[in-house]
Amino acid sequence: MPLKKVLITRIIPAIAKTMLTDAGLEVVEWSGDGPMSQQELIVRAKQVNALLSLGADKLDKHFFSQCPHLDIIGQFAVGYDNIDVEEATKAGIPVSNTPDVLSEATADVAFGLMIAVSRKMFYNHKTIIRGEWKQFEPLKNLGFQLSGKTLGIFGMGRIGMVMAKRCKGAFDMDIIYHNRSRNPEAEKLFGAKYVSFEKLIRESDVLSVHSVLSDETRGLFNMDVFRQLKPTAIFINTSRGGVHNEADLIEALNQGLIWGAGLDVTNPEPMKPDNPLLEMPNVAVLPHIGSATVEARTGMARIAAENIISFYQSGEVPNCINRQVLEVRKS
Ligand code: DGY
Repeated sequence: MPLKKVLITRIIPAIAKTMLTDAGLEVVEWSGDGPMSQQELIVRAKQVNALLSLGADKLDKHFFSQCPHLDIIGQFAVGYDNIDVEEATKAGIPVSNTPDVLSEATADVAFGLMIAVSRKMFYNHKTIIRGEWKQFEPLKNLGFQLSGKTLGIFGMGRIGMVMAKRCKGAFDMDIIYHNRSRNPEAEKLFGAKYVSFEKLIRESDVLSVHSVLSDETRGLFNMDVFRQLKPTAIFINTSRGGVHNEADLIEALNQGLIWGAGLDVTNPEPMKPDNPLLEMPNVAVLPHIGSATVEARTGMARIAAENIISFYQSGEVPNCINRQVLEVRKS
């Protein structure tokens, strides 16, 4: 029987290739300095049986109309908003992701951004580079302390839980959250209180977004919401840039409707270097590095490979998003 071929759409930690090869699969890799165009991706995907994809790959309706032959997609990310899962399901293709392994890393970035914004760290760093640090300033560059403040978490999943743990432990923050369903563990461990979305936005001193990007959350954090936040609030987004409306965020900061913002995700990505957010004192922006630790990326590569190997070995996929496909395949 010919070997099943897996296309890895970027160079990722080597463990993925090693595991796939050891499991008897043939691996082809795209080694370009950036993602393939969709056209290129389709041409290459037509020549393989499985895809180990990244968030920048556009796996939409058109893609699945061209590549319905794929056996499985193993996404190298926890987020999968680049994949039209409904179309994959129609084509009978299981889609998997890499949860858990990046929760600590991503929450660390949210936590770091929160502190950086509360003390204007990125801005103050830039003043040194610009030669503007002349003397001690008793009344300039004052930030806010975080101890005892209220942290609002939108999306109390795995990453939200780690953020809550960090903030409770380090600053004894009161935790409130809004989620699709209640999270009894967060309530028990951190005394987190489930609140309505309206209460979340009105009462948070720091509002940290940890949700998926979906039809319900796209553009959710817009002017309407920013108007209802405290004028002293800090908005943190480490999930997906599409969850906030960036023009509205800029306007809200300019008008002083909120105090500051920390973003690891922007809309669009990459952010243009002349984006006004980059010059604002109370803003910190990072280039989507939430999962960028050796541990997280190695774990993501391992799990993405495990999902594909397990599919070929047993028909099971540990982190399958559209599990119904597996049931249909078994029946
Ligand atoms: C994820 O896993 O979704 C991160 O954003 C990295 O893409």
